[in-house]
Amino acid sequence: MEPAGHNPSATTADNSAVRSVTGDDAPAGIAGGARRVRVHHLQRAKERGERITMLTAYDATTAAILDAAGVDTLLVGDSIGNTMLGHATTLPVTLDDMVRAGRAVASATRHAWVVVDLPFGSYEAGPEQALASAVRVMKETGASAVKLEGGRRSAAQIRAITDAGIPVVGHLGYTPQSENVLGGPRVQGRGDDSAEELSQDALAVQEAGAVAVVLEMVPREVAARITEFLVIPTIGIGAGPEVDGQVLVWTDMAGMTDWSPRFARRYAELGRALQQAAADFAAEVRDGAFPADEHTFDQ
Ligand code: KIV
Repeated sequence: MEPAGHNPSATTADNSAVRSVTGDDAPAGIAGGARRVRVHHLQRAKERGERITMLTAYDATTAAILDAAGVDTLLVGDSIGNTMLGHATTLPVTLDDMVRAGRAVASATRHAWVVVDLPFGSYEAGPEQALASAVRVMKETGASAVKLEGGRRSAAQIRAITDAGIPVVGHLGYTPQSENVLGGPRVQGRGDDSAEELSQDALAVQEAGAVAVVLEMVPREVAARITEFLVIPTIGIGAGPEVDGQVLVWTDMAGMTDWSPRFARRYAELGRALQQAAADFAAEVRDGAFPADEHTFDQ
């Protein structure tokens, strides 16, 4: 008999098969022996020269798998708009979307530090709006931090959220919420003036109290320089190897779609594997091979 409340047709996020394969054997990562990655582990990692690992996650099942793999931090990115919700950009993503996904990811995570993106339109109006959005994320998701885009223009928002006791991760370089100003996904910080602007933004984010900063699509030399003069860790995506950590969108990392950006390495071809599994299922239903006796209940 199934326990009360158990849905026997569903795979839950607390998937014991995933745990037994990878759970307690997963590499320690930046938390060392600690069960949970906490904010101070990021700073300590930078000081010790240990690289921080971050992947995006948008749902409980995937989060449990990535968490069991020993990834240090999971980012509930507003890339959920492109990867899961069928939008062309991140702009339509709402705070409700982020709260729902954040809750799912945080509920399935036992080890990783969970960060939730503040979506476009939830913080630009000023510190009060930013703080209200961040407080909602923290109250309703169980995440440990929020992330928002922008340097000097977002410094007051970062300060207000930080002063309220909520860790903030900044995001500089190519910032997808500003894609209409930036002209699409393009490397930022090329040339002396642009690199200087980026450096000033990085300092402003740190000065405002951010605990880390994502650098997206930035020339490696510029990212390396920023990493050297910042005290807080930098986490790169398309920013080369001389940063304090790396983040990828999990669907790019796992090869869920035919195309991945140049800066992403495909560690699997899960899209093709899933398509094959679905095709096998459909073929076996059609020819009667599924369900077999072992999938069938007798009276
Ligand atoms: O939303 C997202 O996935 C991100 C990463 C690209 C850093 O912000």
